Amino acid sequence: MGERRRILVTGGAGFIGSHLVDLLLGRPDVEVTVLDALTYAGTRRNLLAHEGDPRFRFVRGDVADPAAVEPLVAEADHVVHAAAESFVDRSIEDPRRFVVTNVLGTQVVLEACRRARAPMTFVSTDEVYGENAPEGRFTEDAPMRPRSPYAASKAGADLLCGAYAVTYGTLVTIVRGTNTFGPRQHPEKAIPTFVLAALDGRPLPVYGRGEQRREWLYVGDFVRAIAVVMERGEPGTAYNIGGGRELANLELAREICRLVGAPEELVTFVPDRPGHDFRYGVAWDRLAALGWRPEVPFEEGLARTVAWYRDHRDWVAEILEGART
Ligand SMILES: NC(=O)c1ccc[n+]([C@@H]2O[C@H](COP(=O)([O-])OP(=O)(O)OC[C@H]3O[C@@H](n4cnc5c(N)ncnc54)[C@H](O)[C@@H]3O)[C@@H](O)[C@H]2O)c1
Repeated sequence: MGERRRILVTGGAGFIGSHLVDLLLGRPDVEVTVLDALTYAGTRRNLLAHEGDPRFRFVRGDVADPAAVEPLVAEADHVVHAAAESFVDRSIEDPRRFVVTNVLGTQVVLEACRRARAPMTFVSTDEVYGENAPEGRFTEDAPMRPRSPYAASKAGADLLCGAYAVTYGTLVTIVRGTNTFGPRQHPEKAIPTFVLAALDGRPLPVYGRGEQRREWLYVGDFVRAIAVVMERGEPGTAYNIGGGRELANLELAREICRLVGAPEELVTFVPDRPGHDFRYGVAWDRLAALGWRPEVPFEEGLARTVAWYRDHRDWVAEILEGART
């Protein structure tokens, strides 16, 4: 029997992290350790399918704590660093938390990877580029002009990855992904907020006039992109993940009403987010050259997502309960 590949996934109890764990454990030759602090955003329930699998292990710990991180990195063949504070609105309320987890936490993971000579893939975001003009597409070489504390903290982490690659030769690849959606996304994020409101017949809160545009990629495609970069990406290189459906937030809310069968009059406007980026937009030719293509059409992904939230109200109640404690 061949050696199994040992992969450490930080933030694996969160939305994207848990889908990545599903993908990786679908392969027979892989072992996965999840390191996650279980903040309001993470729950072991997202990993329930793997409890009891001898190829899966969960460790509760903080990525900004070297004592938690170093021993796990030391025994890993590859690290995917996805743990983060991830919600822009919370970063406007409490930027410090974002600097500690996203910047310091990434430095701690990088340092452990440097010492152990472990390859690492960092899950960054297209928000590091700042907002974009209509139809514009950022390449990976575009300058970073982050505008929210969240985006700035991710840019700091992303730049540290580049610096570790150049200075120490750390084998780090970076993915800068567009907005993603699907089952198990925290209910504070846009699509679950709209879906749950539409299902309950409550108002769908749309920021400003709903003109801001976002590109939505189904989470299954997003985590396949992470895995492709993990396996075939060039160390020291960043890869944009695009290929989603771009639409204005107002169109998105109306589309969800249509899908759920809720009246469009439920869509209501609420005061805009300060410094709300108009749109992002990335060129993803570099990722395409590694052989990745999106596979799940937006309508299909959205229908799956609506069905999942309709059937998992207990999950929603539990994670919202966690957010209060
Ligand atoms: N959701 C998106 O649309 C999107 C798009 C591009 C990039 N990203 C990036 O992808 C990653 C995952 O995003 P998500 O949407 O799954 O976020 P999420 O908030 O659902 O999950 C984050 C996870 O990280 C854990 N965590 C938070 N702080 C931690 C700490 N200090 N130590 C250990 N674990 C900690 C949480 O408990 C949670 O399980 C993030 O790095 C985010 O910046 C997200």
